[in-house]
Amino acid sequence: MCGIVGYVGKSPVVSTVLDSLRRLEYRGYDSAGIAVFNGHGIQVRKRTGKLKELAASLQHQPLEGRLAVGHTRWATHGEPTELNAHPHTDCRGELALVHNGIIENYAQLKASLLARGHRFRSQTDTEVIIHLVEEYAKRLPLPVAFRRTLQDLRGSYAVCLLAASDPKRLYGARCGSPLVVGLGRGETFLASDVPAVLARTRKVLYLNDQEAVEISAEGARVTTLEGKPVARKPSLVAWDVASAQKDGHAHFMLKEIHEQPATIEQTLTGRLGRAQITFDRRTNAFLKELSRAERLILIGCGTAYHAGLVGEYMLEEVAKIPVDVDVASEFRYRGPMLDRNTTVVAITQSGETADTLAGVKLAKEQGAKVLAICNVMGSSIARQADAVLYTHAGPEIAVASTKAYTSQLTALCLLTLSLGKLRGAIPAAAWRRYLAGLQEVPELVRRALRVEPAVKRAAQRYASARDFYYLGRRYNYPSALEGALKLKEICPLIHAEGYAAGEMKHGPISLIRRGWPVVFLATESPVYDKVASNIEEVRARKGECIVIASEGDRNIRRHADALIFVPRTEELFSPIVNAVPLQLFAYHVARANRCDIDQPPNLAKSVTVE
Ligand code: G6P
Repeated sequence: MCGIVGYVGKSPVVSTVLDSLRRLEYRGYDSAGIAVFNGHGIQVRKRTGKLKELAASLQHQPLEGRLAVGHTRWATHGEPTELNAHPHTDCRGELALVHNGIIENYAQLKASLLARGHRFRSQTDTEVIIHLVEEYAKRLPLPVAFRRTLQDLRGSYAVCLLAASDPKRLYGARCGSPLVVGLGRGETFLASDVPAVLARTRKVLYLNDQEAVEISAEGARVTTLEGKPVARKPSLVAWDVASAQKDGHAHFMLKEIHEQPATIEQTLTGRLGRAQITFDRRTNAFLKELSRAERLILIGCGTAYHAGLVGEYMLEEVAKIPVDVDVASEFRYRGPMLDRNTTVVAITQSGETADTLAGVKLAKEQGAKVLAICNVMGSSIARQADAVLYTHAGPEIAVASTKAYTSQLTALCLLTLSLGKLRGAIPAAAWRRYLAGLQEVPELVRRALRVEPAVKRAAQRYASARDFYYLGRRYNYPSALEGALKLKEICPLIHAEGYAAGEMKHGPISLIRRGWPVVFLATESPVYDKVASNIEEVRARKGECIVIASEGDRNIRRHADALIFVPRTEELFSPIVNAVPLQLFAYHVARANRCDIDQPPNLAKSVTVE
């Protein structure tokens, strides 16, 4: 969601901020703006639509200055118009602010500010913040007024403030929405996420909730909201700038799909040995304790929730631990029964998803332990959890998650196998087979990628359809849900629905008619025959079956209108391999429909509001 960039340094500020904002485009947005201090006053430029609209306007009528804040807005309060776009300014135009998050008590604050004579221009919740700073700054020094303002806010925020009265510094703070400080040579950034600063520096400071920061070209000073200094050591980000670029691919999504053999390998590296699975000392100790847990609850949103559904099959069947899986937004509000014997496993690529973060906080309040499966080091959830299994998939830029998903599944395989071993649930022969099987997964995914031409042909053949079903059983059921999600995420013209194949007769079958495409996951499994019968039921109603099957399955040919083979593997690992044709299918259908694949309308990569 909204992207924030603040910059102080010697480089041309407008192009620097625009460049960093471009690297946050993946977060999803519908308008953009920038405020620049030009030595005399603050100038603001905003445009609806994509950053290129803002960039074109800035080229036509340039702004120049010494420091700037920029923003990409994903509308929550008020339509995506120029007036509602950020930065917002105070009554006198001497302060400018950008914000990510939602101010829940904005209506009360606005009423009292209106009563004091402040003039509001937008319908946003954000605008109250800048007027509140203006109000407090009448009697307090600016940094104190800024921090005092934050203490009045309820909800979530990451903010960056520019003040004409203090032209060498920018002020930032966070509570529930991400904000990092990038420390370059003679230049400093504030940004929503690390990719925004990677081209200039890998040295970052992570802020905690309820912390404020002042940045200047020389560095940063972190404090509490009361102004107490906080000592914070910079971290060195392992990602480099190339990992956040398209590398010759038409879209980030395609690049990330093709990266999967390497990213899965990275998830396994240093953990999967020939005869054992190990983690760092702290995680090993945590897992030992976890192996005695009576119950696990897996939570996540979107694709991460689907990874959790796969995890349920793995952990119950192989590690013999009772598992519940919850959509994080339901978990946090359903009054779950938690205690010391329950461990909550929070699955999240970004580590910033608001509902998953709230679920983690709830779990901790109620005495449960929390394990995070997370891709972003230093993210909010990684820092709140008792232990973290990092997925090490590198930055994922496309809104639709691909490599992060298969890395989450890989991490869940490692977790399942090590817990199963600790619990004595895996016989020695099966243990050896599983370990050897998991070693092979990156290569199998590499081979699965070779089916792209066949998948592309199938995608082009069905690209004009407007409804799709995805069906599967057992491990292939969550895979079906994920396949459908991929298509509906990146192809807004299409309705796609995933279903448990056994449920088809309880509803969806009534819609099947001539030409209705149904993607079947029919790879090797104990329920293969049942899936084959379901395929026949669709064909009997003249539906079109696009079947994903295991290499060498001769029998399946007569059931399929379009056939895609994937390499054989243990059923436990099949969701990783089967994800590949599903991702590629969604990608090529969307491409044939000329969709905005990396930044689909209305969607955001990092959903930092509930
Ligand atoms: C958004 C993204 C999805 C992602 C979900 C959860 O909807 O577009 O790709 O699966 O959030 O995000 P997380 O970062 O918690 O995995």
